[in-house]
Amino acid sequence: MPDCYVVIGNPVAHSKSPWIHAQFARQLRQDIEYARIEAPLDGFARTVDAFRAAGGRGANVTLPFKEQAFVYCRDAVSLRARVAGVVNTLIFEGGGPASEIRGDNTDGVGLLRDITVNLGRAIMGQRVLLMGAGGAAQGVLGPLLGAGPQCLVIANRSAAKARSLAQRHGAAAGGGYDELGGAQFDLLINATSAGLADEAPPLPPSAFAPGALGYDMVYGRDTPFLAMARAAGAEARDGGGMLVEQAAESFFLWRGLRPDTAPVLAALRQP
Ligand code: ATR
Repeated sequence: MPDCYVVIGNPVAHSKSPWIHAQFARQLRQDIEYARIEAPLDGFARTVDAFRAAGGRGANVTLPFKEQAFVYCRDAVSLRARVAGVVNTLIFEGGGPASEIRGDNTDGVGLLRDITVNLGRAIMGQRVLLMGAGGAAQGVLGPLLGAGPQCLVIANRSAAKARSLAQRHGAAAGGGYDELGGAQFDLLINATSAGLADEAPPLPPSAFAPGALGYDMVYGRDTPFLAMARAAGAEARDGGGMLVEQAAESFFLWRGLRPDTAPVLAALRQP
């Protein structure tokens, strides 16, 4: 019987993860199954318990369960996931109800690889603006700081949330969009869910430095933030590359093999 993996979320029907992992498995000749499970909003732990009891070997966790996945990891949590306080990858060592439960977070490294390897952009020495202070922002903040930006500013609609996130991580600053003044950034990352409501964070267009990259972590739609970046003369990129790269890192954690992401990303982007 093949080893079984799932992506757990609510909603999860739109998830591209099963398709991405099927491409990786074919590329590396791994006999695995990868499915979607929509957990009830009040039933994350019991859904994962049941999957583990049935022999499941690992899970990707998506909205809105990443904080609960962190709590679920009774045996071990990687340093990068502990810093983030959110887990997107569960590893069930041994399989079955008595399996060891380990947690990791591959979102940050996925974002970093997409920006630095796929898009060929440096983070070190750059002025970085991170928009949002929810789970998505928390997941990538530590790795972004670790990449050595010249400065990293967190902006959020609720300024207090940005301030406390910045303080917790020793980031340069955090506050509301109206506190940005005339500051300019080389890399502007949208980690808010504004795009899902067809809105953009209230960012002054002057925030895009000449040659800037506007990156929206949302994948699969041309968000108002991306339109704003293009209108300001910046390069605009969606989160497709991050999606594939974080999946590749999860695949590596489970299977010990690193997929070649380039052909999968190219196929994902095909209309
Ligand atoms: P996620 O796990 O995707 O980060 P979340 O924890 O609900 O989800 O956080 C959503 C983030 O998007 C928050 O930073 C939120 O701002 P608030 O903390 O002020 O609520 C931000 N957000 C959502 N809609 C937005 C909008 N229309 N404009 C600006 N920010 C928005």
